Amino acid sequence: MGIGMLSDGLALTPPMGWNSWNRFGVKIDERLVLETAEAMVESGMRDAGYRYVVIDDGWVAPERDRNGDLVADPGKFPGGIATLAARIHALGLRFGIYTDAGTRTCQGLPASLGYEFRDASRFAEWGVDYVKVDWCHTEGLGPRACYAKWAMAIHATRRPMVLSICEWGRARPWEWAGTLGHLWRTCWDIQPEWSSVTKILDRQADLHSYSGPGHWNDPDMLEVGNGLTASEDRTHFALWAMLAAPLMAGNDLRQMSDDVRAILTATEIVAIDQDARGMQARRIRRDEDVEVWVRGLASTQTFAVALLNLGSEDRELHARLDEVGFAVTDLVRVRDLWLRSDLGERRHELVTTVPSHSAAVLRVSAY
Ligand code: GAL
Repeated sequence: MGIGMLSDGLALTPPMGWNSWNRFGVKIDERLVLETAEAMVESGMRDAGYRYVVIDDGWVAPERDRNGDLVADPGKFPGGIATLAARIHALGLRFGIYTDAGTRTCQGLPASLGYEFRDASRFAEWGVDYVKVDWCHTEGLGPRACYAKWAMAIHATRRPMVLSICEWGRARPWEWAGTLGHLWRTCWDIQPEWSSVTKILDRQADLHSYSGPGHWNDPDMLEVGNGLTASEDRTHFALWAMLAAPLMAGNDLRQMSDDVRAILTATEIVAIDQDARGMQARRIRRDEDVEVWVRGLASTQTFAVALLNLGSEDRELHARLDEVGFAVTDLVRVRDLWLRSDLGERRHELVTTVPSHSAAVLRVSAY
């Protein structure tokens, strides 16, 4: 961990949870959020590690109240945010909220410029555990100074709150955001399309050295269950786990298919994301249509290896042991984390058949 990184212990592994934006946009309300929280428990997601239920843009009323405080839209959240947060806490979950560093949110609602300390203290009173701060309508402002103010405002409340910096990666936040917040977006908004997933993935290839326990690159929230094919859903999820990305589900948890639930709760893939060493994968090879990503894990001499087939045909993929961190003559044990099965011992290279738009994820350890 670099000097000056946050050391509050709030995000020693990448935060996991759900956020309303990808699936619902501004069409959110109290009932949706509570039903989602209940579904998080019933589906086994809470037990798999998902904790934060986060409402994104669209929760706030069009005007501050006469004291200058943000208030929840009374039509959508008639019970108010504090009550909602309490009900989410009662389910053993944590609650997150959204604001924007500028004059308006991206959807044109009141935002926090000039109100950082006031808004942070209201959030703390309401029982908020996680604050996402967006970057719309910030003309002429410096992101570093604005987010530093947010970090101070949160600190001043004395309530532990995760700070999610959403500056879209424009001002290279990986170089400065780790001293201010727990996660920072590295890219524009994800879409539920394969091309969006691969484009974002590509942008992460040089960022592995910037993230680690307490401070994470955020390649945006998950689109699993929002329209990708089943193998693309799996691949997106596995690659985000390789990247030590925050795993914020973005689908409708109340009516997801068994397949989607199985992906989001795939314990051995989640365990890669949540590995205590917090080491984001490096891309060690990129040929046309084939990529190999590797991350070191907390267990000694153990690596997670993703063999990614971007092409439209199934194909056999190979990675030499000396490419992924071993000596070529080493004897290693290999486990397939999607199949949840031990593949046995290997020397020289890893070989596996990978369907189109899929990734094999292998856990490889030395004997
Ligand atoms: C974008 C942000 C999205 C979502 C949206 C809300 O700037 O990247 O994740 O929060 O604003 O309007």
